[in-house]
Amino acid sequence: MNLILLGPPGAGKGTQAKILEEQHGFKQLSTGDMLRAAVTAGTAQGLRAKTIMDRGDLVSDDVIIAIVDERLSKPDVSKGVVFDGFPRTPAQADALDKMLAARGQKLDAVIEIKVDDEALVKRIVGRFTCAKCGQGYHSEFAKPKKTGICDVCGSTEFTRRVDDTEKTVRDRLQVYNKQTAPLVAYYHGQGNLHVIDGMADIADVTREVEAVISRVKA
Ligand code: AP5
Repeated sequence: MNLILLGPPGAGKGTQAKILEEQHGFKQLSTGDMLRAAVTAGTAQGLRAKTIMDRGDLVSDDVIIAIVDERLSKPDVSKGVVFDGFPRTPAQADALDKMLAARGQKLDAVIEIKVDDEALVKRIVGRFTCAKCGQGYHSEFAKPKKTGICDVCGSTEFTRRVDDTEKTVRDRLQVYNKQTAPLVAYYHGQGNLHVIDGMADIADVTREVEAVISRVKA
């Protein structure tokens, strides 16, 4: 099954994509994570992307489409993909339709996660990640069980994203509303759109996502 989690920064796309990966064996395809890996590796592409990401703008469509096309050619995506943060523009959405069709596949559902702007800012500003294994946390909504120790790997080192400041989140929200929100109408027109309430807690949002998957499978 191929799913898109569509929503603004902090909507919970990454959180839910990781849960779906564990529950169903789908592969999370996060273009944000792929770009951050390129930044950490210091590749030319990563260095070019870093300045754009730090200010909250979008990396160019041709770069993004090329990295997604390459990722979809790996054998580990056979059980399906959860697209997290992709597509973000009409050109990317069109390219995804073509990339899937070229592989004899299709999109099964687009799940739009709706969250109020002020809640998004609170979520992003409180987000932190284990520096060793990448497990995500939130200072209020998803704390480690023991303060300062990662639940998954026991590391005591955590990081925060450079673009997770209040100012950059508000800029990212504007970019989302202008460049990505038009995809809601695009997928509604395809008959693939399912809208869920992302204001609920993480477990309730997972239940709503699972309900959509069950309906699509039926
Ligand atoms: P990307 O990494 O994709 O960031 P984003 O879309 O802004 O989304 P986030 O990762 O910030 O939010 P999320 O929805 O995954 O929330 P999360 O689950 O972590 O992109 C970064 C940059 O890369 C872009 O700005 C752009 O420059 C570039 N880029 C990436 N893809 C691109 C593309 N396709 N085209 C062009 N450029 C691209 O949750 C957030 C926090 O809230 C966490 O702490 C979590 O614990 C908490 N939380 C989650 N759910 C809930 C809940 N239900 N209740 C309470 N707290 C919750």
